[in-house]
Amino acid sequence: MSFHPKMAYDATFHKSSRTLADPGPAFVFTPENRARLDAIVLRYPADRKRSAVLPALYLAQSQQGYITGNAMVHIAGILEITPADVEDVVTYYTMFYTKPVGRFVLSVCRTLSCAVNGAERVVEEICAKLDIAPGQTDATGTFTLIEAECLGACDRAPVIMVNDAWQELQRPEDVGALLDALRAHGEAALTGCHHVVEKK
Ligand code: FES
Repeated sequence: MSFHPKMAYDATFHKSSRTLADPGPAFVFTPENRARLDAIVLRYPADRKRSAVLPALYLAQSQQGYITGNAMVHIAGILEITPADVEDVVTYYTMFYTKPVGRFVLSVCRTLSCAVNGAERVVEEICAKLDIAPGQTDATGTFTLIEAECLGACDRAPVIMVNDAWQELQRPEDVGALLDALRAHGEAALTGCHHVVEKK
């Protein structure tokens, strides 16, 4: 026996309809990105287009660098949901940005394994070297610092996700060298994820 109420397959879900505060600059997908999204939407039943909201948001962020209110409205129109529905997803996940970010987004894990291995000092070193606080971008527009929850590489703590790449076993005293290496070599300077590296 289940304690959950039965829900019909065609149940009508609550639709949020509040107005978005800041629309930002105009946004439409490039023809290439629109074609990619249309292909993704076709994977789902016609009445479940909303299932494509995550890839739609990734495409919007890769195109514009961050996700504006206008981008949420545009995506909502394509997926036949409300802009507020899209905003709910954007604001739930830390990997979506609602304002411009630097060339490198440094997401420092602050969960237990990383915390006991010095993540707080990693954050302090980054803040001191770049003269920023968590959530901010440095004056050159190169680095944005974010504190994140577990990134799934706890045995290689402390861990930093840099854009979509990985830096593991990051010692606080080596933060300056990491920032210099990123400036010089980009993501090629990173250790990578050991799960991927060890499979090669
Ligand atoms: S606790 Fe930091 S990666 Fe899991």
